Amino acid sequence: MPRTDAWWRDAVIYQVYPRSFADSDGDGMGDLPGITGRLPHLRELGVDAVWLSPFYPSPQHDAGYDVADYRGVDPRFGDLGDADKLIAEAHQLGLKVIVDLVPNHTSDEHEWFRAALAAAPGSPERERYIFRDGRGADGSEPPNSWQSVFGGRAWERLPDGQWYLHLFDVSQPDLNWSNPEVRAEFLDVLRFWLGRGVDGFRVDVAHGLVKDGDLTDWTQPSVILGGLEPAGPPPPMWDQEGVHEIYRSWREVLDGYEGGRILVAEAWVQPAERLARYVRPDEMHQAFNFEYLDAAWSGPALRAVIDKNLAANDAVGATTTWVLSNHDVVRHATRLGYPVGTPRQHGIGAGDPQPDAALGLRRARAATLQMLGLPGSAYLYQGEELGLPEHTTMPDDVRQDPAWERSGHAERGRDGCRVPLPWEADAPSYGFGPTDASWLPQPAAWSEYALDRQQGVAGSTWELYHAALGLRRGHGLGAGALTWQDVPAGALAFRNGDVLVLTNFEAAPVALPAGARVLLSSEPLDDDGRVPVDVTVWAAL
Ligand code: NOJ
Repeated sequence: MPRTDAWWRDAVIYQVYPRSFADSDGDGMGDLPGITGRLPHLRELGVDAVWLSPFYPSPQHDAGYDVADYRGVDPRFGDLGDADKLIAEAHQLGLKVIVDLVPNHTSDEHEWFRAALAAAPGSPERERYIFRDGRGADGSEPPNSWQSVFGGRAWERLPDGQWYLHLFDVSQPDLNWSNPEVRAEFLDVLRFWLGRGVDGFRVDVAHGLVKDGDLTDWTQPSVILGGLEPAGPPPPMWDQEGVHEIYRSWREVLDGYEGGRILVAEAWVQPAERLARYVRPDEMHQAFNFEYLDAAWSGPALRAVIDKNLAANDAVGATTTWVLSNHDVVRHATRLGYPVGTPRQHGIGAGDPQPDAALGLRRARAATLQMLGLPGSAYLYQGEELGLPEHTTMPDDVRQDPAWERSGHAERGRDGCRVPLPWEADAPSYGFGPTDASWLPQPAAWSEYALDRQQGVAGSTWELYHAALGLRRGHGLGAGALTWQDVPAGALAFRNGDVLVLTNFEAAPVALPAGARVLLSSEPLDDDGRVPVDVTVWAAL
């Protein structure tokens, strides 16, 4: 496979959630050797790169997004030698490796935070975080009105009376990015992993590092588990101008290494022009397009989002980065099984309205085929190639997402999309590991989604992804350009190179243009060769 330094511009990148991908030692928690052992599968599927969610030492209060040591591997997942082996093996197979970087906050078990707790107010140790005195006569009121993304207030008080800021869990204190020591430390962490051969970093909460200097009160209701903030002046904790100079300094470091090392922003920012500022030529390379993930299942909605994002990224010379699922959102095979227009859900429980699973999968396959036909880069989330749904009936007492407790059980949280993968229908833990153990329960339906039930089976979701990735590469779709085509209302079609990508969102079947040769279809066409509702077709023109 030819490789250039700009490999990322059209790459398909597969997100591995290490806890839930493959468990080599049978403790019920996935690990790095498990991932390494399964890399040939990802090669066969046809992706270009993997992104690994955090595997660093961590008390795991937020599934590893609470990092205690940025230069190590949590013993639950292996050790540094295992990380080196994974990177080497991936490269051997022609796969790039992106790791997660969590710079907005550390774990409260990080040595810096322990030192801050042991030190006095006003000390250099506390200056690495955001400590403040409280308000009110005795300082018993928090320093401002900010709320945690996981629910409840974003401040915690210490016995000595000071408060510290945590935009996420209480165990995730926010770092102070106006402190040069913090900046220097992360430059060094970047070099540590670049030196070990990683090809890039997915930057967690990239829009959050810099807070408005006065920590101004913010009285707008904040949505638990977030999502895109309404467009308008950014809130004082998100998308502040100061974040950009940080990424420019990181870019300089990355550019000093060979092979095209990249930064990808997890930034819940809109409108598209605002998000595109993260991918200006001297900043990051990619930013997840969450507006696409959030768009309603409708032609006009998707067309508007696609147009806006292509234009905004074009204006700064970047490609667009499409995504439909990840470890923070309800899987798209489930999301799309609810009526169009259903507001964004933050987890689903047994007592909640249940999705139409067949409809969800049908639409998810169509959505994926549309996404993979678009020019630019695309991210896949582990298990979507199996058509995996969300676990929507998980018992509440096994939930681990801190948002479940912190929201006072108002939001069920993200465990439902994090369930360990099924590889073999008839094996213990469906082949996730050698034993029955699984850190979250796997539903009985997992057997029908298992990889060994799908590989080589015509029409399976795995075969659809496999074929789509091969055709996408063969026709150069990622590096192509999009031109909208005229189709009946209720459908949406664009041309990318010599391929027509047509999706039918409404009831009446849509005929393909004369002479079009079907390359791939998310479901069979009707007897007259027309595209039924909730189906996407790729056809050669
Ligand atoms: C975004 C991550 O994707 C999410 O899983 C995590 O909880 C928060 N950032 C906090 O790190």
